Amino acid sequence: MIDVIIRGIGGHMGRNVLELVENEEDMRCVAGVDIRPVKADVPVYASFTDVREKADVVIDFSSADGLEDELSWAERTGCALVLASTGYSEADLRRIDRCANTVAVFKTANLSVGVNILQALVRQAAAALGEQFDIEIVEKHHHFKKDAPSGTALMLAESANEAFAEKKHYVCGREGMVGARTQSEIGIHAVRGGTIVGEHEVIFAGEDEIVTLSHSARSKRVFAAGAVRAARFVCGKPAGKYDMHDVIAR
Ligand SMILES: NC(=O)c1ccc[n+]([C@@H]2O[C@H](COP(=O)([O-])OP(=O)(O)OC[C@H]3O[C@@H](n4cnc5c(N)ncnc54)[C@H](O)[C@@H]3O)[C@@H](O)[C@H]2O)c1
Repeated sequence: MIDVIIRGIGGHMGRNVLELVENEEDMRCVAGVDIRPVKADVPVYASFTDVREKADVVIDFSSADGLEDELSWAERTGCALVLASTGYSEADLRRIDRCANTVAVFKTANLSVGVNILQALVRQAAAALGEQFDIEIVEKHHHFKKDAPSGTALMLAESANEAFAEKKHYVCGREGMVGARTQSEIGIHAVRGGTIVGEHEVIFAGEDEIVTLSHSARSKRVFAAGAVRAARFVCGKPAGKYDMHDVIAR
């Protein structure tokens, strides 16, 4: 039996993950962590410092806040982590890398198989089209989303950037007299509204032709299912960092 703790158990994603975990024969949720009071059939704690249950894996769909408590708890107990939250700072990312020296850490800004395929296509297109095509990324999400641009948009920008010896810098939104666009930019634009689950469009705009690669998530269950798959994958793995590509490559 794989024992799971869900961080952010009261949120949109946390509730979806709980439902899926409960439907798996060899998985069960033993506790939740959430800063808001949450009614659930398992104990829910405000912080990892209060957690008494043992677990094999934490699935985290919460926020970048309170990360230190979670990572030091995992290091103490040896529990694997699936970090699906977005909005981590550079310092957070370095701390996550250090944690991966002790436990197995699965981290990705996007748990859908489709987006991970899109990432590979973006890398390929950027390499083939080269400097002559301007790259702009447009992401669209529901009006509750707190961070911008999305972690997935940044992930896609990084994939495009892998094609260039001289790395391009990211320009997040434009306003006013910004001047002509330079080739050293990747533009990233965030649209927020309604219940949009998650749309990403990568535009390669060249002289008289445009190539557009896109992905559209139609329900949050795509991400929850990816998280359950990731949790199953990372359990019992040696310390290190893993992502969706490791799961797809299996
Ligand atoms: N990797 C992916 O594929 C993927 C997909 C969807 C969402 N996300 C990310 O997952 C996160 C949650 O998304 P959501 O739509 O469920 O948001 P949400 O606001 O509905 O839920 C977040 C939950 O986490 C709790 N929370 C916030 N900060 C916390 C903390 N410090 N400690 C404990 N609990 C905390 C909140 O109380 C809430 O219940 C966001 O960062 C989002 O970008 C990632």
